[in-house]
Amino acid sequence: MKLAGKVAIITGGARGIGKVTAKKFLEEGAKVVICDYDQAAGQATLADLGSNDVSFFQVDVTNTAQVEAMVQSTIDTYGRIDILINNAGITNDGFLVKMSEEAWEKVLAVNLSGVFKCTKAVAPFMLDQKSGVILNASSVVGIYGNIGQSNYVATKAGVIGMTKGWAKEFGPKGIRVNAIAPGFIATDMVSTVPQKVIDTMKEKTPLKKLGTPEDIAEAYLFLASDAAGYINGTILSVDGGLVV
Ligand code: NAI
Repeated sequence: MKLAGKVAIITGGARGIGKVTAKKFLEEGAKVVICDYDQAAGQATLADLGSNDVSFFQVDVTNTAQVEAMVQSTIDTYGRIDILINNAGITNDGFLVKMSEEAWEKVLAVNLSGVFKCTKAVAPFMLDQKSGVILNASSVVGIYGNIGQSNYVATKAGVIGMTKGWAKEFGPKGIRVNAIAPGFIATDMVSTVPQKVIDTMKEKTPLKKLGTPEDIAEAYLFLASDAAGYINGTILSVDGGLVV
């Protein structure tokens, strides 16, 4: 088992990539704390996973008090935090001239400030332990840009910057920080994308298909495990070769 005895927090773990990653981490021996603002999806995921080693906290990653309470409760229960996956994310697309300031702020609050808040809450415990792994969800569009996603692209490019900065800040303290940049992955998030766009993306992807949440969970597992012990500050593309 690649994560035996490790304690992992996965934000946005009630659905999609986060949920599948939680399942994989449990199979590999980790204790998993799922935090998500969707109470119903969180409870359904707990029932699906059916393990004593997983717990759920209803947490909005934009709410500092809720994030800190979840982190403290994890420490009270397990005494340590080995892995943080900053996976929670949203889209609110629109061409720039039509994008409201509200849509801009909303996406920045979750995808960028949420990553900052969760990492700030967890980092002191990892620093005390002198070990830990922080993994952030970027995106292929954070590297290449995308039409109609000014807010989302800004956050996913920002996540790359934070990942590289934190790799330097925390590396000397025994904490590795990396990001994954998924291509188009078949989850609820992509279900809002028009079929025409999906078909174009499949065509542009050298592997000619969308990715699955399992593809991303495997990459998180590798980066979280000791097998990736010398990998720090990297942005791992898991995108079938897509260049958008
Ligand atoms: P999803 O929409 O299926 O799941 C996201 C989860 O995050 C949901 O359970 C949702 O309730 C939760 N969440 C949203 N806002 C939250 C908040 N404020 N506090 C706590 N939880 C919150 O999304 P998916 O596809 O699983 O994406 C996961 C991550 O991967 C996101 O950061 C996304 O931007 C990124 N990603 C996804 C891609 C895709 O094609 N699906 C491509 C590239 C990146």
